[in-house]
Amino acid sequence: METYKNPQSSVSERVEDLLLRMTIEEKIGQLSQVPAGTENTEEVGCLIKAGRVGSRILAFTAHAGSEKQLIVDITESNEAQRIAVEESRLGIPVINGKDVIHGYRTSFPIPLAQAASFDPQLVEEAASFMALEASAEAVHWTFAPMLDISRDPRWGRIIEGFGEDPYLCSAMASASVRGIQGEDMSKDGKIAACAKHYIGYGAAEGGRDYNSVEISDNTLRNIYLPPFKAAVEAGVSTIMSAFHENGGEPVTASKYLLTDVLKGELGFNGFVISDWDSVKQLLHQSVAANEAEAAEIAFNAGVDMEMASSCYEKHIKELIKAGKIDIERVEDAVRRILTIKFKLGLFEKPYTDINLAKDVMLKPEHLECAKRLASRSMVLLKNNNVLPLSSCGIKIAVIGPMAKERKAMNGSWCLDSNIDRVVTVEEGMRTIASEVEIITSSGALTDNMIYEARKADIIVAVLGESDIRNGEGNCIADILLPPGQTEMIELLKHLGKPIVSVICSGRPLNIERVCQLSDAVLYAWHPGTQGGLAVADILFGHVNPSGKLPVTFLNSIGQVPLYYNHKSNGRPIDDYYNCLSGWNYQDSTGKPLFPFGYGLSYTTFKYDSITLNKEVIKVGDCIEVSANVTNTGSLAGEEVVQCYIRDKVASCSRPVKELKGFKRVFLKPGDSERVSFALGMEELSFYGRDGSFQLEPGKFTVWIGGDCMSELKVEFEVSKSN
Ligand code: NOJ
Repeated sequence: METYKNPQSSVSERVEDLLLRMTIEEKIGQLSQVPAGTENTEEVGCLIKAGRVGSRILAFTAHAGSEKQLIVDITESNEAQRIAVEESRLGIPVINGKDVIHGYRTSFPIPLAQAASFDPQLVEEAASFMALEASAEAVHWTFAPMLDISRDPRWGRIIEGFGEDPYLCSAMASASVRGIQGEDMSKDGKIAACAKHYIGYGAAEGGRDYNSVEISDNTLRNIYLPPFKAAVEAGVSTIMSAFHENGGEPVTASKYLLTDVLKGELGFNGFVISDWDSVKQLLHQSVAANEAEAAEIAFNAGVDMEMASSCYEKHIKELIKAGKIDIERVEDAVRRILTIKFKLGLFEKPYTDINLAKDVMLKPEHLECAKRLASRSMVLLKNNNVLPLSSCGIKIAVIGPMAKERKAMNGSWCLDSNIDRVVTVEEGMRTIASEVEIITSSGALTDNMIYEARKADIIVAVLGESDIRNGEGNCIADILLPPGQTEMIELLKHLGKPIVSVICSGRPLNIERVCQLSDAVLYAWHPGTQGGLAVADILFGHVNPSGKLPVTFLNSIGQVPLYYNHKSNGRPIDDYYNCLSGWNYQDSTGKPLFPFGYGLSYTTFKYDSITLNKEVIKVGDCIEVSANVTNTGSLAGEEVVQCYIRDKVASCSRPVKELKGFKRVFLKPGDSERVSFALGMEELSFYGRDGSFQLEPGKFTVWIGGDCMSELKVEFEVSKSN
């Protein structure tokens, strides 16, 4: 048996053996990913047979998140694989990629919501169920997790990432990669992950998708790189290069970013895939005159596989002949791709059992996880003691455009989900409190809503955005609720009844007016299949809310960008968000509507007695900081305890606060717990002006509290090591 076919040989032995047998055309074939599915089976089948396809992307448009995509046909996928394995010369299987972003048939909350759970274990569990369901439909590789830090709520793709903070996003990056890939990707139910969009895509100018960014190397490394570093450390198999350009260089053309930083400094040994057509788009970005030049630039920069466009397939051979591309670089790319195929076990198990899907989709444990994650991700923003609702003898009007919505509950990027299984808020409330009289009206904004609301004791207004008001290419210039919704709350206010607003959205909206008018506000995001049940559990007090904001909420669009971990300016106002003085704007506050890390509970928590185990540590040592957290209310609840630091003096300016730890703590009324965080090299270091990751001796402030505005702090010093 040839070594590459022998599962007893090591992955690298198999790869090297196979490489030696491949023709140049077959090597180039591995670098191509083609859009594929039932619409072009025959055409793609011929290419596969000729060894000209490395991967199939199960999609037909560049906007897979916002447009209806093909339903995966397992038989068709198996047939494509049969051609690869049995009819191509060397029998190299193809790898099927698909956008499985926050769920497959079971839809979990959008990633931004998942971040609000501050619960990486639960995010890992959800990711593993998502991978299991997708794998049952012949998906070997998902283009997730999306790790773009974003500080701009106008940008539609803010929904897909884990918010504004590098530490939180890194924790979620590792959790997602672990959940999707597991320890061993060849195990049943595991697939390859893809960290995207490397790097800085979330900083698109004006919040307009695909736009240029201007990110300094220092900010790029300290803010945008950490989540990718975390994904690489968690063993992510692939990374997608982003569409945009930074400072005159498209990322897809950047040898510095892809080869020097990602493959060199971070030691990423998987493969880099372009985004959809982003190799060809180098022509629009005016750095390539034709497709051959685009192939040369992207491939030499470090993009190993080209998605959708076919510049590699058409031109790499002639570029090698012309001496513009080295054969060693081709072999390096092919080696990376084959390694992932072997690690996935595709050579041993190329086919998908067509009977598997019916057993693994929407299993009770997936639904239970989706519900738990949804309720843990919802953030209670205001409560004048109207919540939790009593379920005895009251009439509740459940109205508003999102009350009966199913598709919007899923959010963008969840097109394989079974919409019929989504529980609406109205259905959730009827299920959880069947004894309560629920009054509703149609989802449209009509007078009828007011009429119905008059008959109720309490109004639950379910507001928000549809699933196509955010996501890829769906940016907005203002961040208010869609037209009519705030006005509806204004009208309802005249009825003089308590109003609970539930907001389903994919971005932090400016809901200042709704907050003023409502007695309680629950931010439910796009919560997924079990969203309605999760909302109802919280409203009726079966679950005590514990989500915290992963992104700053603004009072006005003019505040963009406003984020907690900003730098201090030369005329400091002595705090984060520069918000003690009115200096920032004459016509508006500099304060956020709600700060990063914020979220209420039905109980209250008190923080005190912050201490350190040492006051001075040496470079390389760890320091432990602890504080008491007490449940001072009358209900049991869970609190996300957060730890922030500030490096007081450094060789380049450092943020006024940086999250460096968080823990979920469950406390019964009156109970206290001492919560500790260890801060060592990783937490205290930063990328300096020379690009190196270093810890500089000096003083630090450390805070422990329930959000980024906490004032409970202590100071310590890091002294030189000798
Ligand atoms: C373009 C998007 O930017 C990317 O996130 C997605 O994975 C690809 N299209 C494939 O659908």
